[in-house]
Amino acid sequence: MSRIHRGASTRSRTRRGLAAASALVLGTTLALLPTTPASAAPGCEVDYQVNDWGSGFTASVEITNLGTALNGWTLDWSFPGNQQVTNLWNGTHTQSGQDVSVTAAGHNSSISTNGTVSFGFNASYSGSNAAPSEFTLNGVVCDGSVDPGPGPDPDPDPDPEPGDRVDNPYEGADVYVNPIWSANAAAEPGGDAISDQPTGVWLDQISAIEGNDSPTTGSMGLREHLDEAVAQAAGEPMVFQVVIYNLPGRDCAALASNGELGPDEIDRYKHEYIDPIAEILADPAYADLRIVTTVEIDSLPNLVTNVSPRETATPECDEMLANGNYVEGVGYALAQLGAIDNVYNYVDAGHHGWIGWADNFSASAALFYEAANTAGASPDDVHGFIANTANYSALVEDNFSIGQTVAGTPVRQSQWVDWNQFTDELSFSQALREELVSQGFASDIGMLIDTSRNGWGGPDRPTGPGPETSVDAYVDGGRYDRRIQSGNWCNQSGAGLGERPQASPEPGIDAYVWMKPPGESDGSSEFIPNPEGKGFDRMCDPTYEGNPRNGYNMSGALADAPISGHWFSAQFQELLDNAYPPLN
Ligand code: BGC
Repeated sequence: MSRIHRGASTRSRTRRGLAAASALVLGTTLALLPTTPASAAPGCEVDYQVNDWGSGFTASVEITNLGTALNGWTLDWSFPGNQQVTNLWNGTHTQSGQDVSVTAAGHNSSISTNGTVSFGFNASYSGSNAAPSEFTLNGVVCDGSVDPGPGPDPDPDPDPEPGDRVDNPYEGADVYVNPIWSANAAAEPGGDAISDQPTGVWLDQISAIEGNDSPTTGSMGLREHLDEAVAQAAGEPMVFQVVIYNLPGRDCAALASNGELGPDEIDRYKHEYIDPIAEILADPAYADLRIVTTVEIDSLPNLVTNVSPRETATPECDEMLANGNYVEGVGYALAQLGAIDNVYNYVDAGHHGWIGWADNFSASAALFYEAANTAGASPDDVHGFIANTANYSALVEDNFSIGQTVAGTPVRQSQWVDWNQFTDELSFSQALREELVSQGFASDIGMLIDTSRNGWGGPDRPTGPGPETSVDAYVDGGRYDRRIQSGNWCNQSGAGLGERPQASPEPGIDAYVWMKPPGESDGSSEFIPNPEGKGFDRMCDPTYEGNPRNGYNMSGALADAPISGHWFSAQFQELLDNAYPPLN
């Protein structure tokens, strides 16, 4: 991603501001090394910043090109100690002994004069962790800064500053790489192909706010993640993605992600969960981050589809509809988080294989609007909506469409489509955006689509439509989504990574994101006692024959899965193998 340099004085102000803010919040556990000193000689300048936890560290490296424009770059340095890079993002690296060499990733290979690029890495070490004393860029020692001298700013580009409120927070920004997920991914064979990708940080329990050392959350609390995001940002626009997921009576139609709060514990949700999160996010130290929240997955859609008198009702969803605590909780979260200038709230909107039927579609939009007007919230607290979070619905189905008729039967009446109005997430998300605007949300809301696990590539991916012998043969032969039924949601067999995270991929879509961290389970395939409140849902059991919510089909889940949120190596491997677009 190319970035525009604003002239030396602005740049160094930004940098000093960052260092001061970070030093305040990092305290004693995380050391921030000073910017590598720059002296006068043209060439390049390197800003090397480190979050150190004693036996390892995350480094953010920013290169400023002070010479002629570059197309392709390699940055070399020698570590003074035994530091060992374990994984690196926004570049590729080799290390031999103390010598490290990093070359550009495709998207950041050009650096204009005075332009900057950044990359980051995790490393381990023992003993001391001094910063490298010298960096070279394409063989030129980076010891210089060039004073552009008096006169007009050579680049008066009106790009937004990092803390400015923007229409699409992803545009022109990097997105936070969660070091915990990144390390899990990098530890897998082949995982370094994606370990530099941004994924969501899930606050799935009250204790996750401070950090609870659970396998789900690891050692980093919200502040540690935000500090790390500030370090990764190095003064440039940076999106931080956090998932708000702890409603009372959570996950009323499934059991695998039941939470810690009982159906009536709305006060604990407000005051022990949302309030402390809001207080941390409002810290001025984080004011330059663009904080994207995903608000309460699956909750509101469950109140539309899984309540009486429908056959799909569950007693738990009936209770959450009757007590109003999902609507109240979502409204409260939107109001409190939306009051923070640099927070962008995206409300979870299910996916097309759930909300795409006519009787669910408008009713869901209406319920979202109701929640956005509850507990002090207003529709202005909603920046957009996110579809397909942690789900598997294909982004685009090219081989059949709603308007088609095959062998005398409309595609809509095929078994797979089953009267749905949509066949894929892109068309669903764009149409839902229009519906939400027509029901009162702002006309500039944007959509996110979670493409973490909806790639459906690999050798079985259809290369064209199925035979025209019957509508089912045609649709089933051509569809990328190879689930047994589109209501299946747990650890789906055959799935692959989807589109890599990217900004503004299509009209109305702010970004494709990986909100669900690939490799983290959706639920255990048999009951596993645990202290996290997680239940056992038979939709995660490969031998289960289904319920009304998946039309009594087999669950399609992988066997031997751990509880939700825990690392599931076999699934991660399958996601790599079946990635679409394929991994290079
Ligand atoms: C789990 C969470 C986990 C999240 C991301 C959810 O299904 O309930 O504990 O953090 O997935 O993996």
